[in-house]
Amino acid sequence: MSIIQKILFPKLLTVIPKRTYYIKDRNESNGEIYSSKIPNDCDGQIQKWPSEKRLQFNFHPETETAFNQQIGTEFKAFYNYLSMAAFFGRADVAMPGCQSFFTQMYMEEFEHALQFLSYVNMRGGSVNLFGIPPPNVQNWNCPLYAFKEALKLEIAVTNKLVTANETAERHKDLSASDFIVTGYLENQMKSVNEFEKFITVLSGIGDKTLSRFMFDKDLLDNYVLSKFNVLQNKNKDN
Ligand SMILES: [Fe+2]
Repeated sequence: MSIIQKILFPKLLTVIPKRTYYIKDRNESNGEIYSSKIPNDCDGQIQKWPSEKRLQFNFHPETETAFNQQIGTEFKAFYNYLSMAAFFGRADVAMPGCQSFFTQMYMEEFEHALQFLSYVNMRGGSVNLFGIPPPNVQNWNCPLYAFKEALKLEIAVTNKLVTANETAERHKDLSASDFIVTGYLENQMKSVNEFEKFITVLSGIGDKTLSRFMFDKDLLDNYVLSKFNVLQNKNKDN
């Protein structure tokens, strides 16, 4: 209908029925043809998008917030390990064992963040990302200092996981609780234990040139997966 028609026949607008769609079908028992209205979602109208109709089966907002905070914590650990890997890869530092080890660590933390992110989406929640603060220091001095800071990070991540699990348990969310306990807590305990052992070794051998070299070589040989070994992979990117 043109604008002129609308001006001339304003009342007509009110009497024109909205187009309604019907589907025809056959009654299986008596063979009669009948028609029924097509449900709203299929009537060709433009739907609201995003629909915001999300199925949240027992995913409490507090649990959702705790999981979002965990994503932030994992990214913070990722950022610190990224900085450590960059430091030990510096030409004037040149510790390929520590560089490879912390590369493995930052990739692990990145994967953890993505796993929590996917879980929030899977449960019908919303992912809300926080800003990632830079590391307090970016000159990591020596392996002992870096490993002590790494232990603090692992303990912080573990405490955050315990808090998130407490929230999930408080809201009787067995799935969220199982996701944390089965998927993360035992590995966190192993990480804490492993970092404590590294600190014991580093504290014992001191930071002399040869002891530093031996520690770095042992780290590369025994604690780094080959895909993160920077010496094995140095020519692959060329
Ligand atoms: Fe993690």
